[in-house]
Amino acid sequence: MTAQLIDGKRIAQQVREEVALAVGRRVSAGKCIPTLATLLVGNRPDSAAYVASKSKACMELGMGSVSEHLPEDATQEQVEALVKKLDADPEIHGILVQLPLPAHLDEERVLSLISIEKDVDGFSPLNIGRLAQKGRVPLFMPCTPYGCIYLLEKSGVKIEGANAVVLGRSNIVGLPAALLLLSKNATVTVCHSRTKDLAAIIRQADILIAAIGKSEFVSGDWIKPGAAVIDVGINTIADPTKKSGKRLVGDVNFNEAKEVAGWITPVPGGVGPMTIAMLMKNTLTAAELQSS
Ligand code: GUN
Repeated sequence: MTAQLIDGKRIAQQVREEVALAVGRRVSAGKCIPTLATLLVGNRPDSAAYVASKSKACMELGMGSVSEHLPEDATQEQVEALVKKLDADPEIHGILVQLPLPAHLDEERVLSLISIEKDVDGFSPLNIGRLAQKGRVPLFMPCTPYGCIYLLEKSGVKIEGANAVVLGRSNIVGLPAALLLLSKNATVTVCHSRTKDLAAIIRQADILIAAIGKSEFVSGDWIKPGAAVIDVGINTIADPTKKSGKRLVGDVNFNEAKEVAGWITPVPGGVGPMTIAMLMKNTLTAAELQSS
């Protein structure tokens, strides 16, 4: 293995410890407890697991957590009424609507009801617009891309002037990751399903952020020697050698890429733990913005 392993679990733990200390200082100073509200609509097991771990993290860091759950067939009006109620509640500092919402709901309208000050996911058009424009600063950075950049910076990877390739253009990861890299003066290329000669573009990348949700899609010979590889993918594949019969892999073929890359994140234990850590950091920031 030539690549330096980027230990997301350890770096996320450090972020969580810093947040817990800051929360403790706030509470000792008589200030309010930073509180996150999560809203789950429906019963997707992956979404239910994600919101449960977000609530658990709040508890572990001494923060408040309000967990709302609406049934799969909730109406647009019911979802909007609940988001408006949470947005108006001064004891709630951050609101996270778990995505994807059931298909009959208008996600854009729901997200637009979250005030920019409570948009700890960083998905509102106002936060994304500020991230996109030169000289403007969003109140919150979307948690997964924020975690990716944090891992690069903590590992000493130079972003300014680097050729960065983002594989995937989702609203949650690919697009905001590209905007964040651009704001840090990387030269950014965004690749997607219609991109021609993907391998040739990826071979130019000093930094690769892979977020397309396809198991081990990027092979080792696509990686530029010495590149920093951040793998956002969390895919389950069959593995008869495991007791469970399956295991998690990323969007990059780790065993091949680690022999070529300069830095690489593992799956699991890379980007995954960072998403929740950055959400906790954003929720603390939200409380600081909203209360003295
Ligand atoms: N679904 C998958 N990732 C995320 C995330 O970071 N935030 C929200 N709200 N939903 C998600």
